Amino acid sequence: MTLKTTLEYRRAVREYLPTPIDPNVVKECLKLATLAPTSSNMQLYELYHITNKAILTRLAKACLSQKSATTADQMVVFVVRPDLHRVRAKSVFEFEKQNVATYSPANKVAGRIKKFDQYYNYLMPLIYSQKPFVPVARSTLACVVQKLRPMQADLSYDDMRVVMHKSCGLVAQTFMLAMAEQGLDTCPMEGFDGVYVKEILALPKEAEITMVVSCGLRSEHGVWGERYRVPFDVVYRSL
Ligand SMILES: Cc1cc2nc3c(=O)[nH]c(=O)nc-3n(C[C@H](O)[C@H](O)[C@H](O)COP(=O)(O)O)c2cc1C
Repeated sequence: MTLKTTLEYRRAVREYLPTPIDPNVVKECLKLATLAPTSSNMQLYELYHITNKAILTRLAKACLSQKSATTADQMVVFVVRPDLHRVRAKSVFEFEKQNVATYSPANKVAGRIKKFDQYYNYLMPLIYSQKPFVPVARSTLACVVQKLRPMQADLSYDDMRVVMHKSCGLVAQTFMLAMAEQGLDTCPMEGFDGVYVKEILALPKEAEITMVVSCGLRSEHGVWGERYRVPFDVVYRSL
């Protein structure tokens, strides 16, 4: 499939055939999904691939028993993990250190490593910290600096939640396109009870669910008619 045919093929599928799909293909699509970009390359997400029938039944109930969930052969839960920010920052830093050592001219190595060190070992922990008063202090400081020069000032706790969910949403979309390219179907769902989903997956309290994606092969009635999009001119602005 070309990208165009893949994009046209992908639809939100609300009912699947009882035919099983290969979990290894789904897993490969999830591997491809990790190529999606994330903010500061922090990759603050986890992918829960559910194939166990008993867990699927519980999860479908937590997805408000939507037919897309109750008929799915497998499901993937896209989870954000703000609590992993130090671990992720450290691993990105270690990797980038090697990149700099390999690809930078010798006279630039120390300076570039210092910048990565400041970014991942000091700035990221500060930006993602949820300790009491830190989010308020950093957004107040940002508001002051913003009066003097442009800066990325959306630094409250909820702003950082948006940052993580945005990145995780890109991972989910990349997954759905990879599945479509294999002729497999999906439906993104935010119609779920997050408390139940977190309990089923035994997630820590800091984790949040970006979306649940059901997977399978579309039934005859799986797609609800033609695809509706507002006219392109309504959303397109050329400056
Ligand atoms: C973040 C998000 C959450 C969604 N949640 C649900 C859902 O809970 N149940 C559902 O049936 N469809 C859900 N959808 C699917 C949309 O309704 C669907 O993508 C939209 O109607 C466009 O149809 P298409 O995907 O076939 O182009 C969701 C889509 C997105 C992006």
